[in-house]
Amino acid sequence: MAKLDRLIIEFDSGLRTVAGIVSPARPSPAEHTPEAELSAAERGEAAALMRVSHCGEVCAQALYQGQALASDNAELKRALVQAAREEEDHLAWAEQRIAELGGTTSLLNPVWYAGSLGIGFAAGKLGDAWNLGFLKETEKQVERHLQGHLDRLSPRDARTRAVIAAMQSDEAGHARTAAALGAKELPQAIKSGMAAAAKVMTTASYWV
Ligand SMILES: [Fe+2]
Ligand SMILES: [Fe+2]
Repeated sequence: MAKLDRLIIEFDSGLRTVAGIVSPARPSPAEHTPEAELSAAERGEAAALMRVSHCGEVCAQALYQGQALASDNAELKRALVQAAREEEDHLAWAEQRIAELGGTTSLLNPVWYAGSLGIGFAAGKLGDAWNLGFLKETEKQVERHLQGHLDRLSPRDARTRAVIAAMQSDEAGHARTAAALGAKELPQAIKSGMAAAAKVMTTASYWV
């Protein structure tokens, strides 16, 4: 596909991500889970944590789009597009759960989207093995982060937990795919830098 066509498609998909116009291919994992009686504080905390996860999914979309744009490897592109498709489900599930909890998505999403797109494109330009290494490390950090959310959520909030657990299992699958495609292990300094950047995003999106 011509570069310009790809750019237009990515731009359109970016707009839909930031505007929250995504339709899930799979129903929410919380579909058949009854709503629990939660205190106002528990609901508020769950909504804030879900807002952080949602923001993370916006970033994941942008990272994958940036990486796919930068790479010329057809197999890698397919893996990125498939992962991005699943991240779209995550986006939609998170959005739905935030609405149920009476919360809102992060106001800063367009900022994180733009930054992540640039980072993804830069990672993509480093070559396939590093691109995949970046993908694998991102997914591992997200997986750990989601575990932190499960630890903080009310044990009774089965609906939120179902969504997060399903995301966590998909992210582990994305990391395995990246490893199978030949991901390089990133240097510790890069991993720490990524964790520090993620910390800024997660702290800010917890509040706004
Ligand atoms: Fe995700
Ligand atoms: Fe993922």
